[in-house]
Amino acid sequence: MKSIVILISGRGSNMEAIVQGCAAEGWPARVVAVIANRSDAAGLRFAAAHSIATAVVAHKDFATREAFDDALAGAIDAFAPDLLVLAGFMRILGERFVRRYEGRLLNIHPSLLPAFPGLHTHQRAIEAGCKLSGATVHFVTPELDHGPIVLQSVVPLRADDDAQALADRVLATEHRIYPLAVRWFVEGRLRVVDGVVRHVDRAPQWLAFLGPEGGAG
Ligand code: GAR
Repeated sequence: MKSIVILISGRGSNMEAIVQGCAAEGWPARVVAVIANRSDAAGLRFAAAHSIATAVVAHKDFATREAFDDALAGAIDAFAPDLLVLAGFMRILGERFVRRYEGRLLNIHPSLLPAFPGLHTHQRAIEAGCKLSGATVHFVTPELDHGPIVLQSVVPLRADDDAQALADRVLATEHRIYPLAVRWFVEGRLRVVDGVVRHVDRAPQWLAFLGPEGGAG
């Protein structure tokens, strides 16, 4: 049984999707803790209501990024996780922190990486005239929003899209790909060779959501 710790900063809808997928599909894993960098992160309530341990390590209580990262690592390591999942965790983590969890640290980003790392991804995709966007689950490396790609969702843009409409459609696909990627990890189905992630059974590592309402096409 693998132990998963999830880090959130706010709503935590991806965290919810992972908790629910784990329970519904009987993964060989358990979400043992949800940790936030803000005490008002709404997702903490969902975790507590599902009898998952919660903790807050507030970044504003620390003078330096390194001090915050160290305190966060201390809180995480108390749960001895096999996998650490960033789910809308909106703090940049330092290299030492990332190296500590390398190979067992996943993130989701709402773009087709390596396009549009950082913030305002949907607005930037619209302004660039992209015809497709989506989301990416990847192993975390010290470079922001980069790292070996596990799984991507593909979502077409619409002529009348605004950032919120696109964000909503992409988020719905995040709730499909993040649980799947985490499941693959805890089932030991992922191999990383030369920075490229392969599924051992060659499962498709992208899902297209081409329907008019962002549903699977
Ligand atoms: C998600 O769209 C996630 O991809 C994004 O924040 C949102 C969190 O939503 N993450 C990033 O932009 C990280 N670079 P949630 O709290 O409901 O899961």
